[in-house]
Amino acid sequence: MLTHQQIEQFNKEGYLVVENFLSNNQTSSLHQRTNDIIDQIGLLYQPQDGKSVDIDALKDVKPLPHSKFTTQESNHTGDKYFLESVDKLSWFFEDGALGEDGEFKVPFSRAINKIGHGLHLHDQMFQELTLSLDVQQICRDLQYKDPRVLQTMLILKHPQTGGEVRPHQDSTFLYTTPEESTLGFWIALEDVTLENGCLWFIPGSHKTHSKITRRFERNPEFFADDQLRDYKAQNQQEQAAVKATRFVTYGDQCDQQHVPDTDSPLWKPVTMKKGSLVLIHGAILHKSERNLSLDKSRFAYAFHVIEGSLQWPKENWIQSAHEFTKLYQQ
Ligand code: FE2
Repeated sequence: MLTHQQIEQFNKEGYLVVENFLSNNQTSSLHQRTNDIIDQIGLLYQPQDGKSVDIDALKDVKPLPHSKFTTQESNHTGDKYFLESVDKLSWFFEDGALGEDGEFKVPFSRAINKIGHGLHLHDQMFQELTLSLDVQQICRDLQYKDPRVLQTMLILKHPQTGGEVRPHQDSTFLYTTPEESTLGFWIALEDVTLENGCLWFIPGSHKTHSKITRRFERNPEFFADDQLRDYKAQNQQEQAAVKATRFVTYGDQCDQQHVPDTDSPLWKPVTMKKGSLVLIHGAILHKSERNLSLDKSRFAYAFHVIEGSLQWPKENWIQSAHEFTKLYQQ
């Protein structure tokens, strides 16, 4: 699947665009399926006569969630719904899409910014894509011995409401020891432009910033004492102080690498046609800006793989009672 030159480019720059990874037909079908899923979630909040929810994973969801997803450090999603989304079809709302009382401030079709994190476990089309021979071959080309799939999700950046994603490294959120092994697959379901919020990378930063010193972890305080947590949850202010997840910095001063400001010329935008795939090294610095388009959304399907022969620390936010899905069947 990948040429020698593509593998070299990925190793050198930390990301690689593979054009035409999906055919136009495949991309259209997945885009349509994405809209179907959004519509079905919408029916839960705004029932319509004659229409029913036919996705099993969406039935019997009570109470209806109003969780937001944000990568802002001061307000990162860290509640029970988020943690339990690992093997579910869960959804998260755009910051600003919901009012104080949970009412929608934007049309429902533009309110959700993420659906995951177990899409491949509940949707056949996304499962087939995730476990496809093409994906397997890319992992073989990049020397994965036992790649495991985790965190499969639709990332929706709607016109006008789609927010920015701050600079980060994916291995901050998903890490293996004693080596990092996270590899992101990011597949454009629509044309990706500067205006609708393309990804930006700092080429080569997976080498200059190879030490992952910031990690997003489960907060032991949250899990230490259920009674204490429930008591604190009764108090809004204290609830905010005991989040289920937290960022932790490792290493000493000299291990900390400066992350260039968002307006640094080191950042390179990556635009692409729908159906393209971007491979993302776990340590590469990347970000995306708000969707400034008035009418063009930017839908993408993304997932990560890790090397299954490495250790998956218990501090990682994703913990599953089941084995992570094997990519190679033999
Ligand atoms: Fe990312």
